[in-house]
Amino acid sequence: MSTGEVLYEGKAKIIYRTDDPEILLAQYKDDATAFNAQKRGTITNKGQMNCAIATHLFKVLEAAGVATHFIDQPNPNQMRMRAVQIVPLEVVVRNIAAGSLCQQTGLELGVALSQPLVDFYYKDDALGDPLLTRDRIFLLELAMPEQLEQLRQLALQVNQILINFFHQCEITLVDFKLEFGMTSDQQLLLADEISPDTCRLWDDTESDPDRRVMDKDRFRRDLGEVDTAYARVMERVLAQNIYVS
Ligand code: TMP
Repeated sequence: MSTGEVLYEGKAKIIYRTDDPEILLAQYKDDATAFNAQKRGTITNKGQMNCAIATHLFKVLEAAGVATHFIDQPNPNQMRMRAVQIVPLEVVVRNIAAGSLCQQTGLELGVALSQPLVDFYYKDDALGDPLLTRDRIFLLELAMPEQLEQLRQLALQVNQILINFFHQCEITLVDFKLEFGMTSDQQLLLADEISPDTCRLWDDTESDPDRRVMDKDRFRRDLGEVDTAYARVMERVLAQNIYVS
């Protein structure tokens, strides 16, 4: 697949223009970063694995009625996508307490939340992607009230579909981050990627709190065997039909 000029290079992907202004090409990289790029490394074969996992999950979500930017996967580490203007909000959905929720609230790791928690972060690397309040979102004019509610409902819908899908893979979806984008004709689409880089995934077949970790926490926390954990996620995800029962 011939690629055009680089539109943007992020921490985990390079985004290229194509001949069609409405279509972009993402090249998934093996590079890994954490803590706002203070920690850097590579994960062997991550580009291909995340591209394959994200492709499958976008197909699952499309089949369940969620509009995404996904078009196709022309190469193992490349995804063609509808061009969108990214909404500068990172939408995090949490089912189980982990990560920054534990650090900021004192909740113990692994506590099941009585209902999914939706957190919005400002997508701004220079500011360190800070947690926002509803009023700060309106203050910064990042979304209107109706759009914020639409994002929240979409995120909760995605959560339910992915919980059910990962359950079939014997994986618990602890939390994850979504990004959304707007097409030139004002259609709101789920964008970016969904992968072990952007989700916390715990192996239901492991009870040990470190051994069960199948996501980027293995890299963040130097738990080792990062690539084999991603490979295990890929194997289980690709083995499941896209139609979630
Ligand atoms: P957190 O507990 O660090 O706030 O992360 C919540 C979820 O969001 C977790 O699944 C990892 C994901 N995430 C990203 O995808 N990108 C990020 O920059 C951060 C901080 C978290």
